[in-house]
Amino acid sequence: MMALPALRATPRVAWMRLERILARVFASGANPLAQLGAVACLLLLLLLISGVYLYVVFEPSATGGWRSIDTLSRQQPFPGGWLRSMHRYAADGFLLIAVLHLLREWVLGRSTGFRRASWLTGVPLLVFVYISAIGGFWLNWDKLGQYSAVASAELLDHVPLLAASLTRNFVNADAVSDRLFSLLVFIHLGVPLLMLFGLWFHLQRIHRPTMVPVRSLSLGVIATLMLLAAWLPVSSQAPADMAVAPTALAFDWILLHLHPLADATSPGVVLVLVIFVLLILLALPLRIRASQPVAVVDPGNCNGCRRCVDDCPYVAITLQPHPNAKPGMQLAVVAANRCAGCGICAGSCPSATPFRSLQRLAPGIDLPQHPLDTLRRQLHEALSQASDKGKIVVFGCARGARVAAVESHDVVSFSLPCTGQLPPAFVEFALRCGASRVVISACSNGTCEFRLGSRWTAERLAGSRDPHLRRHVPKSRYRLVFADVGDEPSVAMAVRAIRDDRVVGVRP
Ligand code: HEM
Ligand code: SF4
Ligand code: SF4
Repeated sequence: MMALPALRATPRVAWMRLERILARVFASGANPLAQLGAVACLLLLLLLISGVYLYVVFEPSATGGWRSIDTLSRQQPFPGGWLRSMHRYAADGFLLIAVLHLLREWVLGRSTGFRRASWLTGVPLLVFVYISAIGGFWLNWDKLGQYSAVASAELLDHVPLLAASLTRNFVNADAVSDRLFSLLVFIHLGVPLLMLFGLWFHLQRIHRPTMVPVRSLSLGVIATLMLLAAWLPVSSQAPADMAVAPTALAFDWILLHLHPLADATSPGVVLVLVIFVLLILLALPLRIRASQPVAVVDPGNCNGCRRCVDDCPYVAITLQPHPNAKPGMQLAVVAANRCAGCGICAGSCPSATPFRSLQRLAPGIDLPQHPLDTLRRQLHEALSQASDKGKIVVFGCARGARVAAVESHDVVSFSLPCTGQLPPAFVEFALRCGASRVVISACSNGTCEFRLGSRWTAERLAGSRDPHLRRHVPKSRYRLVFADVGDEPSVAMAVRAIRDDRVVGVRP
C-alpha cells in the first residue's frame, strides 16, 4: 500500500467535519462553505446589476446625492428602493463571504506553496471590497455617510505619506464640493472595476474556476437577498449637515465596523491594526512548507495528447515542441511552482495503463514519490496468492476518508494523493488480478483538495471523460462512493453493500 501521511486532528479536520455536516444539510452539492469563491462572484454580479440601476438615477453632487437616492426609496419602493436595499445587503454579504472564504483557505492551509499566487492576489480583493463598500455610504451623503466620511478621513490623516489633511474636506458645508462628489463616484465605480481586474489575476492559476454556485444555492442566495430587501428596506437617514455631528445612527456593523473601533480606541490604533493584519496576511505565504511532490514528464512516453493539460486543476502543464521527436509533435511540460502534486495528470495519461507489458509502468507523466508503477506492483502483490483471490479492493484519497480503516480479511486498500490519480484501467486491472469487487472512494464535490479530482474520477468511471473505464467492465463490480475526511462509515457501507451485491446510493 502506498504510504501517505494520515491527517491529525487539527482545525483543518474540524473544519472539514463541519463541511461534511453542511453537505448533508444542504443536499445536491449546495454546501455554501465548499463554494464561497463562487458565492462571492454571484454577490459581485448582483452588486454590479443593482449598482447600474442606482447609478442611472444618482445625481453626483452634495445635495443631489442625498435627494436622488432618498426620492428613489420613497417614491419608487419597487423596483428602485428594493434594488437599493438589494445593493446594500449584497455588499454586506460580499464582505462576509469574502472574509469567510479567506478564513476557509487559511484553516485548510491554502496560503502557501502552489496556492501562494491565489492567496496573494486575494488579499488586495479584500481591501477593494472595504474601500468600495465604505465609499458607497459617502455617495448617499446622509448622516451615516457624513459620519463614515469624516471617520475615514481621520483614519487616512494618520497615514504619514498623505501630504494634506483629508479631514479639512469635511469640516464645513462649503468644503464638500460637487467636485469632491465626482471623485467619490469615480472611486466607488473605479474600485469595483479594479476588483474585476484583480479577480482575473486571482483566478489565473485555477483551471475552470467555479464562478457560479450550484443552481439551488444561487437561487437560495438571490431569494434571501430579495426577501431581506423587501422585509427590511434600507432608507436614507437625515441629509448630512457639517454643522451638526451625527448621532443615533442606524448603523451597518458589517461594513462600517472600523469606525466604532476607531471611536473606542483612536484612528491611529485602527490604522496600525489594519496595516498589521494586512502584513500578516501578506506574510503567511512566505512560510516554508515541506517540499511537495511535483509531477514529472517522461518524454519517451508522452505523445502530446493534451489530456493532462485539460485535467490539471492548477494550469501547471503546457505543451511545447517535443525536442526529440518529429516536427509537430508536442511534449507536456510541468511548471514546478504551480504543481500541486495531486497526480490527476497521471490519471489522465493514456500511457498510464497497467496492462502494458513493460517491466516498469512508465506513464507520460507521473509523481515520482507516488508512482503508478508502485501502485500496480502493490496491487499485483496484494492479489497474487490463491488465498487473496476474491478480495475487495478499495482505492481512496489520502485527504478524504481513511480507506485503511475498512481493511479486513477480504478487503485491501490503497491510498493515493488524490483519487484523480487513478487511471480507470486500474479498476479493470484489479478485477483481472483476482479482485471480486472494487470500491473507489473520492471526496465529495467542492471538498476535493485538488478541486477537480473527484469530478474527473466520476466522469472517467461514468465513461463521459477520457480516459474512461471500458464499457465491458460490469457496473456491479465497482462502486464510486463520495466520502470526506472522517466519513469512513460511508466507505464501510459501500464495501458491505458491494459485498452483498446491493446498489449503494452515491452522493455527488
Ligand atoms: C473578495 C473577493 C474574492 C472572490 C470573488 C474570490 C473568488 C475565488 C474563486 C472563484 C476561486 C476559485 C474557486 C474554485 O473554483 O476552486 C477562488 C480561489 C481561491 N481564493 Fe479567492 N476570492 C476572493 C477573495 C479571496 C481572498 C481575500 C483570499 C485570501 C487572501 C482568497 C484566496 C483564495 C485561494 C487560496 C484560492 C485557491 C483555492 C484552491 O486552490 O482550491 N480569495 N477565489
Ligand atoms: S500533479 Fe496535479 S497540479 Fe501537478 S501537473 Fe499533475 S495535475 Fe497538475
Ligand atoms: S496525458 Fe500523457 S501523453 Fe498526453 S500530453 Fe500529458 S503526459 Fe503526454
